[in-house]
Amino acid sequence: MIKEIPIAENIYWIGVNDRETALFESIWPLPRGVAYNSYLIMDEKVAIIDTVKAAFSLEYLKKIKGVLGENRKVDYLIINHIEPDHSGSLRAVLETYPDLIIIGNKKTADFLNSFYGITSQIKIIENDEILDLGHHKLRFFIAPMVHWPETMMSFEERGRILFSGDVFGGFGTLDEGIFDNEIENIDYYEDEVLRYFSNIVGRYSVMVQKALSSIADLNINIIASTHGPVWRDNPGHIISLYDRWSRQETEDGVVLVYASMYGNTEKMMEAIVRSLAGEGIKKVKVCNVSKDHMSFIIRDIWRYRAVIFGSPTYNTKLFPLMGDLIRFLGNETIKSRVSGLFGSYGWSGGAVKELREFVTTMKWELVEPVVESKGAATEDIINDCILLGKKVASKLKSA
Ligand code: FEO
Repeated sequence: MIKEIPIAENIYWIGVNDRETALFESIWPLPRGVAYNSYLIMDEKVAIIDTVKAAFSLEYLKKIKGVLGENRKVDYLIINHIEPDHSGSLRAVLETYPDLIIIGNKKTADFLNSFYGITSQIKIIENDEILDLGHHKLRFFIAPMVHWPETMMSFEERGRILFSGDVFGGFGTLDEGIFDNEIENIDYYEDEVLRYFSNIVGRYSVMVQKALSSIADLNINIIASTHGPVWRDNPGHIISLYDRWSRQETEDGVVLVYASMYGNTEKMMEAIVRSLAGEGIKKVKVCNVSKDHMSFIIRDIWRYRAVIFGSPTYNTKLFPLMGDLIRFLGNETIKSRVSGLFGSYGWSGGAVKELREFVTTMKWELVEPVVESKGAATEDIINDCILLGKKVASKLKSA
């Protein structure tokens, strides 16, 4: 167990690592776990910012006492985000420190009642309001729908630390250290911030942009999110990545997502991949929906400008695992992708038709030809696949 760790004078990280949960929100894989970050400010008044998942309450309370000792009490519990991965230990903290005041906004108060039946000991703050702890002052920025209605950020003015809630957070436990400059493979964590963003927060990109504008002039020294590393080396870097992702800026590359039962659709995929490579496209990510969890596919679709879907028909419909992905993407707000489609069928088509309806609904540019093969691909079908690859490559090069 990592002990409490100072992140600035009298400010401590008191988070926990979760190495047990396999699927975050029971959906998203956690190959290297996840951290629930919480912070404690020790001053004339003591404040905690967010808590941790309920299963870690005992370990968490030990950390609080590790900083405060047995006699000091907690005065304020600030809830930047009430989703239970952060509020799950709220009851345990309240039972230990029964006089504390919970700080949140009007929406937080609604959730305190509906999730925990708590209706008292709540101080409702407004946007830009300041809470004075003594030497430290916290200024609140309400950032609704990033990604819940009550989300907000708290800015500690003395150390210029932004406690940002889920914003800038990512999957992965904190092993070598909690700070970005203590972690050797920080690229892995940046990728996991993109996965968290694209899987969970990205749908609310417009609101993320509003939140980023509200903090644009803060001259931030440290970003302390609820998940993943504390960004102190170059906080501007993670802000700039988040800004690009939420503005839907993409890299020139192609995600080729396919399914194949007996190799016929796969053969078409190979022809398209060779064609893209032959045209000099360096970033081509091939994903098989039967092997790759959609969490990683969604991350890649968020990253790259072009996406090509290939699916066999299954009982007159889209291959079921491809259908799951399409349904999820249909509820996202991913804009301005260049798309291509292909597929195969045995005795009845249907998959490509559904894919075409999907890209039309998303208002994505569809590159022709759409290629569909009855049974094994003929030479003409393979040539059409090669043409599709060339035309997608040409779109990327001309952008
Ligand atoms: Fe990390 Fe939205 O909870």
